[in-house]
Amino acid sequence: MTEKRSLWGSKVGFLLAAIGSAVGLGNIWRFGYMAYENGGGAFLVPYAVALVLAGIPLMILEYTLGHREKASPPLAFARIDRKWETIGWWMPVVAFFGITLFYAAVIGWCMNYFVFSFNQAWGADTSAFFMDTFLQVSDSPFNLGGIRWPILAGTALTWLIGWAICYREVNHGIEKASMVFMPLLVVLTLVLVGWSLQLEGAWAAIKEHYLTARWEKINPFTAGGSKVWVAAFGQIFFTLSLGFGIMITYASYLPKKSDIVGNALITSVLNCLYSFITGFAVFGTIGFMAASKGVPFDEAITSGPGLAFVVYPEAINQLPTGQTIFGLLFFLVLIMAGLSSAVSLIEAFCCSLIDKFSFSRKKTVTVVCLMGCLGSVIFTTRAGLWILDIVDHFVNNYGLVTGGIVECLLVGWVLKATVARRHVDQAGGLKLSRFWDVLVRFVTPAILIVVVGFALYSEFSGNYEGYSTKALLIFGVGWLVAALVISVILMRYPWSSKKLTHEHEPEEDHLLV
Ligand code: PFF
Repeated sequence: MTEKRSLWGSKVGFLLAAIGSAVGLGNIWRFGYMAYENGGGAFLVPYAVALVLAGIPLMILEYTLGHREKASPPLAFARIDRKWETIGWWMPVVAFFGITLFYAAVIGWCMNYFVFSFNQAWGADTSAFFMDTFLQVSDSPFNLGGIRWPILAGTALTWLIGWAICYREVNHGIEKASMVFMPLLVVLTLVLVGWSLQLEGAWAAIKEHYLTARWEKINPFTAGGSKVWVAAFGQIFFTLSLGFGIMITYASYLPKKSDIVGNALITSVLNCLYSFITGFAVFGTIGFMAASKGVPFDEAITSGPGLAFVVYPEAINQLPTGQTIFGLLFFLVLIMAGLSSAVSLIEAFCCSLIDKFSFSRKKTVTVVCLMGCLGSVIFTTRAGLWILDIVDHFVNNYGLVTGGIVECLLVGWVLKATVARRHVDQAGGLKLSRFWDVLVRFVTPAILIVVVGFALYSEFSGNYEGYSTKALLIFGVGWLVAALVISVILMRYPWSSKKLTHEHEPEEDHLLV
């Protein structure tokens, strides 16, 4: 490749950006309702298993791939074998169209709630406020019912900020932004968790509902149990930004000597620790709400994507003092966590286009953000919540996980796990155990295939959340098919041959004989 690839300015800069991508709304907003819906403490066990058997091995794999090929997913895949390039596109495309578009809208909700915090505009019934006054949800995913302008305003602002950050090269834009966002995020989160813990009824609820595993709920051979496993694996992909193409892209900007395994471990473990800790705030606050209303914990709130927007305002209402400050604090945490994730996906998608078509960064980022903002409009309509819920379900359980299975096969069998492992060793830092070869060749893809099987089984045993089959086909399956069509179109365009050839370290092959 002739053009010079930019590099992260420092090791810490890369780590903060990678953790910034991983730690996002998924850790607070999505983790909260996933854990609450899937039995609280019961969810943590499959979550930890998914982290060890899929999360960490895949994080190492994605870092290795990006670092070895110095490329975004389509180019990295094409360099290994051109036939696999479609999946290299599939990852950023399905994630960009399937996740970033609604994610920007959710950050838009947070911006509105940040403003509402000044005078607790949500009133006494926070659930009715969220559904009827704020979202004004329609009765079906097909009844769009017009745009909610305040949500569109927040969403457009999100895209504008994303554009401003990604417009500059990674070491100036994303790296600098992460250096500010991440430390601030940690401090604000700790304050928030500390505050939640001292609420009345919080500890009791945490102990009983969050820290106690209920084994009967996670038996994968029951319908309810298998759903918990599917949700946990889906959540691990989402929360670690795996299968999006993000980590491949971020690792492509690492210098030659880099501790791939160490970085992968730090990113994965810190991210999940962050979720675990914020879980105390979520469960503590629900416990407080249940206690103050005198209702059972499991009935304290109707769950789903609205959880954070109903629970927190409600808890804030119950506070004797400091209501405004804690509202501002909570929604600021969400906005910052969300923005540092959204930019990572804008970057991955733009980098893929730039690698293939040699467009200029500035033009690509501008066009992608404009298109993204337009695409987000559907999630700002009165049917936005329903469409979001369906798209999220299908993209997570099928889109990201399929990407994960394919990358295991590509690296484990086509490139060969031993070649990848030697590369990691050469790059320096922690050594990778041979056990990893076994994981990426057999264990991880096998488990992920079983997970997809469970997901399909539950899909056919009843419509997800009772949506109509037509809605699931159009917004769920249709979204995945559209992403595949776009990926095939992008793949068919020819590469300039210079790009497909990339010299690896000469000693690498020598080491392998
Ligand atoms: N890891 C992110 C999170 O947990 O929120 C997932 C993510 C979503 C990354 C959307 C990027 C993005 F645009």
